[in-house]
Formats: sequence, structure tokens, C-alpha cells
Amino acid sequence: MNYLFPDDFWWGSASSATQMEGHAEGDGKGQNIWDYWFETEPHRFHNGVGPNHTSKFYEKYKEDIQLMKEAGHNSFRFSISWSRLFPDGEGEVNQQAIHFYEDVINELIIHNIEPFINLYHFDMPLALQKRGGWESREVVDAYVKYASTCFKHFGDRVKKWFTHNEPIVPVEGGYLYGFHYPAICDFKKAVQVGFHTILASAKAIEAYHDSRQDGKIGIILNLTPSYPRSQHPEDVKAARMADLFFNRSFLDPSVKGKFPEELVALLKKENFLPEMKEKDLETIQQNTVDLLGINYYQPRRIKAKEHLPNLHAPFVPERYFDYYEMPGRKMNPYRGWEIYEKGIYDILMNVKKDYGNIECFISENGMGVENEERFRDETGKIIDDYRIEFMQAHLKWIHQALKEGVNVKGYHLWTFMDNWSWLNAYKNRYGLVSVHLEDQYKRSIKKSGQWFAQLSKNNGF
Ligand code: BG6
Repeated sequence: MNYLFPDDFWWGSASSATQMEGHAEGDGKGQNIWDYWFETEPHRFHNGVGPNHTSKFYEKYKEDIQLMKEAGHNSFRFSISWSRLFPDGEGEVNQQAIHFYEDVINELIIHNIEPFINLYHFDMPLALQKRGGWESREVVDAYVKYASTCFKHFGDRVKKWFTHNEPIVPVEGGYLYGFHYPAICDFKKAVQVGFHTILASAKAIEAYHDSRQDGKIGIILNLTPSYPRSQHPEDVKAARMADLFFNRSFLDPSVKGKFPEELVALLKKENFLPEMKEKDLETIQQNTVDLLGINYYQPRRIKAKEHLPNLHAPFVPERYFDYYEMPGRKMNPYRGWEIYEKGIYDILMNVKKDYGNIECFISENGMGVENEERFRDETGKIIDDYRIEFMQAHLKWIHQALKEGVNVKGYHLWTFMDNWSWLNAYKNRYGLVSVHLEDQYKRSIKKSGQWFAQLSKNNGF
């Protein structure tokens, strides 16, 4: 065994409610922005497949949890659908939703799989979006009530909580680049949405700590290392700006309780500072995370801008840098993303150096594959050696970080079973378990799922 991990290392995978539950209507669930967006603009979704067709975990969760056990899970992250719990985002709790999530939690525990619950994974209830979504201060209050309801009902059994998954993604998708609802480009609103998300996270952390439950609460961030094209000061500065916008904007307030000064100065200069109340910054400062989840897929390759930015175009962070395609970079041939395994080590070392070596884990890492059916063998199994190699190569770097003292506690793959992924729907498959969409959503474990079982059993490879 060359790469041995600690005995209590968390092996598992991550998922989200909208992406796997299905049952988007019924049993009291309200609509969220994805249900609504699909209803009104289905052409935006790959092959016209919407959130009403996700992997049916709602019906099949017992079978799925059994499969998780077979795939060696000792932990599993899922999210609660806010609009299932509160059909209108606030007000009356939907008791059927409480029963459903209780059953899931209990079933996981029976199988010795620790439930990790994330509260928000891109799925704003429609009723709240109509009142402005994260642009609105009222939504922060509604979110804290929703979070407190979850702590109250499930906190006796759930000891790992997360306030958000990749909170920068709804900011980018909804308010800058058009891949989440409401798909507008407005930097001022983007900043307000980002600020409210961070404030909501801090207030949920405060509520959790006030409840005196004995678990931990954190946040899950997609941390994407930004590498400059060269050591030329202009390239280095460009990479620093990308890091500031896309990593430190959420990482600093979540872990250090403070927004980076350079970012604040820039927002002030451009007149983009968000509206806030007097005590907000204090709330953020006093309620930092206990635990950090890190999602890593691919790095950013950055160079200095070659042309002066068009100052009349809507403001986007790319005013300060350009992307470039590094010659010779290794690509995932099946998804078009770069694969750079050492990136995972660089992030972890940075968290150790600059963020007090906070307890952390890899909360998502994974390899998307288009048309994965082509890798199904005659017995019906997906032979995904590429995914096994991908995991091994990243785990080697995590192992190295562990040896150098990083406080990293686990590895969760994205994702357990193939699932629906927003506008990309079922285009890219990521699971350890395949889902046959054409055959009643039948599940079958992939070669990587069997490998993962060995990995977790041996605590290494
Ligand atoms: C992650 C998100 O960043 O990327 C997931 O947390 C998403 O929700 C995953 O499904 C994969 O994205 P895609 O576009 O490759 O399917």
C-alpha cells in the first residue's frame, strides 16, 4: 500500500437535491427557480431535459443507500430542497418533506454512513425569487429560518452541516454570465447577491452555534487556483486579481471573517459596494466556519490583458485579466476541462498557510464524461478506468498534503450516481453508479464504484 490515509478518513460522495431527487412536483413541494426556468425556457436545457427528470432518489433512496454501502461510503453529502421543506420559501413547513429527509438520514445511519447536509445548492424557491432572491434582504431572514428548522428537526442525528455549496456559482451564473436564473449581467446586483449569501451563511452559523448542538458547520467553496502565464509582474498581477474575485471573495469572509481589503477598495472605487446594515460586518466577523469543504475540478490559467478593456461594456471581473490556453496542458478528452492534479495540493497548502490550517476536506472532485454509454461492456457494466486514474492521481496529491501537515479529513467524489446537472442536464456523467435513463432509471455500479469500495476498505491504494 503506497498511499495510506488515516483510519477515520471520510470516504464518500456528494450530491444535491434538485439534481437527484426527481419528484419535482407533488408531496407538497413548491417550485424552485429550476422548475420555473425549465417550464418557461426549456430550450436552454441540454436535450430539453429538465429537473422533473432527475435520478429518482426520492423513490429509490433505500436502494441507493444500499449501493452507497457497496461502494464503500462512510459518509455522504446531500442537500435539502428548500422548496420541498417550505413550498413558499417560508411559512408552513411541509411535514411530508420532514418525513422524507428523516427517512433518508435514518437509512444512512443504519448503514453506518454519516450524513453531511448542505442547506443550499443553487435552488432558490420561486416564491422568494419573485421577491428578489438573494438580492433581497428578506431572503436572508427566510434562509435563516429554513436553516434553523433543519437544525431543529435533524440536528440530533446530523453532525456535519454546510450553509452553501459553491455560493459564487449563483452569483456568476445568475448575475454575470447567464447560466443560472435570472441570467442577467449586472455587477452591482452580483455583489449584493454575494454579500447576502455570505451574510446568510454567517447568520446560519450563528443560529447553529446558538442551538448548542454538538456538530460542526461549514461552507463548501469551489476553490480554483489561478496560475499566471509567466512570472512577468503583469501576468502575476492578473492571476492575483482572478484569485481575489473567484476565491478570496468567499474564502476570506467564511474563514477569516473579513473581506479582502483589496477587493473592498476596488468595489468602493467602482461604486459597487453592497448595501448593508450596521452590524452585518460584525456578524460576518464573529461567525466563521468550523469546517471547510473544497471543491476542485480544474485550474484557471491567467494572463495579463492584451487589449484595454471596453469600459462601456458591462463590468465583469475579466476586465482585469484574460484566460489563456496553456500549451501542452492535459485535458479530459470526454468533457473538455483541464486536468491538473497538483492543483488540489496547491489549494490545500494555501489553506494551511493562509487560513490557519482549518479543518477541511475535498468535498467535490470528479471527472465528467459525455456519452459514457460507449464504455458499457457486454455484461452491462461501465468500465471507467479513466475515472479510477483520475481519483488516484488526485489522491496522491492529497496524501502529499497530509504528509505536510494539512488538516484534510476526507475525499468526496462528485458524484454518487449519474445525475442531472442544471443546463447541462444529463450531458456529462460523473457517478460511481450509472443510471439507465432509458430503462426505468435502473442503477448499476461502475468499475470505479467497485474500486472505490476497495479504496475505502483499505484506507488507501
Ligand atoms: C459542480 C457543481 O461544480 O459541478 C455540481 O457543484 C455540478 O452541481 C458539477 O453538477 C458538474 O457540472 P457539469 O456542468 O460538468 O455537469
